[in-house]
Amino acid sequence: MSQATTHIETIEGEYNLNNYDEIRENFDWSDAKALLSAAKTGKINAAYETIDRHVDEGYGDKIALHYINEGEKRSYTFKEVKDQTDHYARILKRHGVTRGDRVFVFLPKTPECYIAILAVIKVGAIAGPLFEAFMEDAVRDRINDCDGTLLITDQQLVKRVPKKDIPSLETTLFVEDIEKEPLQPVDGDDYVEWVDWEDGLIIHYTSGSTGKPKGVLHAHRAAQHHIVTGKWVLDIKDDDVYWCTSHPGWVTGSVYGLFAPLLNRATVVIQGGRFSAENWYSLIEELGVTIWYSAPTAFRMLLSKGDLYKDYDLSSVRHVLSVGEPLNPEVIQWAWNSLNVRIHDTWWMTETGGHLIVNLPAEKIKPGSMGRSFPGIQVGILDEEGNELPHGEVGQLAVRTPWPGLMKEIWGNQDKFKSYFQYKGWYISGDLALQDEEGYVFFQGRNDDMINSAGERIGPFEVESKLIEHTAVEEAGVIGKPDELRGELVKAFITLRSGYQESEQLLEEIRLYVRKNLSAHAAPREIEVMDELPKTKISGKILRRQLKALEIERANKVKN
Ligand code: PRX
Repeated sequence: MSQATTHIETIEGEYNLNNYDEIRENFDWSDAKALLSAAKTGKINAAYETIDRHVDEGYGDKIALHYINEGEKRSYTFKEVKDQTDHYARILKRHGVTRGDRVFVFLPKTPECYIAILAVIKVGAIAGPLFEAFMEDAVRDRINDCDGTLLITDQQLVKRVPKKDIPSLETTLFVEDIEKEPLQPVDGDDYVEWVDWEDGLIIHYTSGSTGKPKGVLHAHRAAQHHIVTGKWVLDIKDDDVYWCTSHPGWVTGSVYGLFAPLLNRATVVIQGGRFSAENWYSLIEELGVTIWYSAPTAFRMLLSKGDLYKDYDLSSVRHVLSVGEPLNPEVIQWAWNSLNVRIHDTWWMTETGGHLIVNLPAEKIKPGSMGRSFPGIQVGILDEEGNELPHGEVGQLAVRTPWPGLMKEIWGNQDKFKSYFQYKGWYISGDLALQDEEGYVFFQGRNDDMINSAGERIGPFEVESKLIEHTAVEEAGVIGKPDELRGELVKAFITLRSGYQESEQLLEEIRLYVRKNLSAHAAPREIEVMDELPKTKISGKILRRQLKALEIERANKVKN
């Protein structure tokens, strides 16, 4: 494997709030556990730790959630969120939901979405949050895969829930109806189901390079990982107003939009509606956001708006984090020059359940690097045989097992689960990276065909399967084409069935077909018709790598 150069440019931190060297030296995961009330009581329920605990400890009047969407603004105290989750929990119990059931939540980014997820967890069931932009097939496949029995949605999104074809689904509840029912007083912690550390907490569906999305199941033990990374990586303090821009249907939106900040008693901002630079900046100003967690694509969109930031008072922001795709040094520089903040990159995955490689607030940042391993986490760069490579060499990014946030299983797919652990004692990420002498890790790409567009993971197989459902498409090969704004964009190469002629209109129709049935983010932005797709000689498998190489070659030609 080849040698690559590392960036040496650094930005030193302005403040030193914690002694991280000492933390790194002495860290033990029991320190994380000690932050939870379960360490004292011996009883665990992650929803209790997230909300009820703070009420019991005297913080019931503190604001837990701010919701803002096109002029609409609502706030909830921790006591109000507790009462609401009890209300939802009572209704779930009435419908027979019990420990271990899979309950899906298909809602836009609203307080009700957060409350519904927490209520599901409170009664001991497994929450299955669905991204609000999913269309029929995506919704159906996910609920079917793990036999979801109950769905919480609203009158709008229910239009995208197939009426047939989900045999396990017994009940659909609408937030509109739940909200109409009067709140009832609760006795003690009646609705909290105390569970084991290994009990299922949340299931996130995520894409790989083959097959349909897989259900990554996390356990209540992950709360240890969430609370400690919330404290040290997000750097949450008592007065913080914290905003993570991701929807809880993605792991960033659940772990770092909901669990980690609320476990640390932060005030969490929920922003509805679509991305707009104006709305985002004015939200920060209006709510006095102090900690902000987003993705490189969003930062690049803000950067492209030039001086717009000058129209807003963004001085409340003290800590910014990024995840999901490579963070360009230019973006870090832009934030440093314009917003006067450092952007702290973080690396992790749906499967890892929490941060593994981070830039801690007081430590040196090397633009171009994702940071260093979180205390208690050991990163390795492995060759094809699973041997550790020396500093500076590119190899498979791996992590020593176990840690509390690590997934518990891939739902119903033991083989897939095992495939992450093919070298004894290591979790294999599927990313390629190198590590320098100081432990800083530099992302070098994926070791498979997974696509990362605007930080969202897209499986080429899923898109290809949808494309060939269209009557005009014979074969399809889908890749991530390098893109300045989104990192990669979804590009499909197709061949047409005989009798079909290539036309703008037909390609648009095919694109819309994927968009309408799968989801907007997975629909190919570009479709190119070929006479024939490149294939392996023996098995006739479509060679995505060759298609990708073709795109990279074209892009290089344009550059030169
Ligand atoms: O390729 C890496 C990329 O996103 C993948 C994980 O995607 P997902 O499970 O959707 O989780 C996203 C957020 C937790 C990784 O395998 N990725 C994630 N963070 C970074 C990244 N690539 C470069 N830099 C990062 N900081």
